[in-house]
Amino acid sequence: MLHLLQPTDPFWLDAVADDLPGLLEDHAHCELKAAQSALALVGRFGAEAPEIVEPLSRLAREETAHFQEVHAHLEAWGVRLGRVEADGYVKGLMRVARQDHRESPVLLDKLLVSAFIEARSCERFKLLAEGLPDEALRALYRGLMAAEARHFALFRGLAEQRFGALARQRLKALASREAEVASALPLGPTVHG
Ligand SMILES: [Fe+2]
Ligand SMILES: [Fe+2]
Repeated sequence: MLHLLQPTDPFWLDAVADDLPGLLEDHAHCELKAAQSALALVGRFGAEAPEIVEPLSRLAREETAHFQEVHAHLEAWGVRLGRVEADGYVKGLMRVARQDHRESPVLLDKLLVSAFIEARSCERFKLLAEGLPDEALRALYRGLMAAEARHFALFRGLAEQRFGALARQRLKALASREAEVASALPLGPTVHG
């Protein structure tokens, strides 16, 4: 349903459990980037695709609320928000999408790359919701996992609404690229690492 061809290595959970403040710090930035990227799509493509304006600006509000929620956990752990780091997974996905982007409209690829980021986050939040040692964090990830599944469906739906069969084709192609990118990353205490 999430179109992920390669499940996350179970050892990722060990890497994360060893550094929960590191995970939360990275995760807070992921939520912030999700809000920023939804608004960037509205700004860049809202004129040609007016149907994205309302759902993606609503999404940006929800991602901002997630940022606040994760930030509150960070504070509870006595950790301050760190500097933003590049996300190797997101960069890798964008790079592979661009490699054959001449055949595919930019908006379509941006919507589908966002869909995969939501899907992979959903898969990982499920692992966290089931496997973390801390009950407050398990509860946090149970809630966020459901939101990410909804967001995957939103991006996929917007892509299909505008691009039809082309979107379904491109989703399949990007699924194998996503699996390559995800499995090539070193395991670390980050949402996508
Ligand atoms: Fe979120
Ligand atoms: Fe999301």
